[in-house]
Amino acid sequence: MSGRDPRVKIEPMSRVYDDERLAGAYERGNEMPERALRAWVELIGSFAPRSAPVILEVGAGTGVFSDAMARWIEGSEVVGVDASEAMLGEARRHHSCPGVRYLPGEAEALPVGAGGFDLALMSRVIHHIPDRVGAGRELVRVLREGGRVVVRTTFRERLDAAVYDYWPQLRASDARRFPGEAEVVEDFVAAGLVLEEVTSFAQPVVANLAEYHARLVGRPQSKFNCLTDEDFRQGLARLETAAGGEDTGPVLERYDVAVFSRP
Ligand SMILES: C[S@@+](CC[C@H](N)C(=O)[O-])C[C@H]1O[C@@H](n2cnc3c(N)ncnc32)[C@H](O)[C@@H]1O
Repeated sequence: MSGRDPRVKIEPMSRVYDDERLAGAYERGNEMPERALRAWVELIGSFAPRSAPVILEVGAGTGVFSDAMARWIEGSEVVGVDASEAMLGEARRHHSCPGVRYLPGEAEALPVGAGGFDLALMSRVIHHIPDRVGAGRELVRVLREGGRVVVRTTFRERLDAAVYDYWPQLRASDARRFPGEAEVVEDFVAAGLVLEEVTSFAQPVVANLAEYHARLVGRPQSKFNCLTDEDFRQGLARLETAAGGEDTGPVLERYDVAVFSRP
């Protein structure tokens, strides 16, 4: 017996973002302050092996990173690939600067030719990919020699987000969904990539709990799909109560960044 609540619909993770409601809510509920986004782009761009890089974003979602990389990494060209037409629709509507192109496609069968990319970004997508070795092989195929892959995620052993204070059930479901660092490294190395480094840091994502509540009220992430409406409402009420007190200070989220190279 799985113990799963029969009222909760479980869909394959790579398909959850086909939902138009989630795609619209994702765009609104995952905004990043410009300063933080610039810092991320600077970090990601620092791994490009040459100037004016050609960049692939795998699982580009609503295009926040694809668009920001095209704008702020000088001379870059960006292709954003995503399995969900609904997410790509949001990307084209909100994040379509001249240096970026969006294509439908799967990480395990990328819709691009061999050897054309200097840098690949996978941001918050590795936990959605069932065949990580297959996805790694595709990265080996599409990257140039010396090209790099940047995986932006939170590995299972470092899941410590504020969201678990209000929806404690999510800790166990995220522990099942998110891979550990060693698993990702093993699969990508098996695919032919070489591990360069892993760093981990906590970053303020909003100024206080009131802003956090405003961000999460639209249920903007796939993790919430495993909750019933009532469980979601109760967690939101806990968050609203906590946000009502005096200034709570910034809310932090932990990110791990694993960098691989293509020999
Ligand atoms: C949490 S969103 C992350 C979006 C964006 N990278 C970001 O950091 O904001 C995950 C995205 O991965 C996409 N995705 C999931 N499985 C995929 C796969 N196998 N191939 C390509 N995209 C996939 C989903 O459609 C969704 O847009």
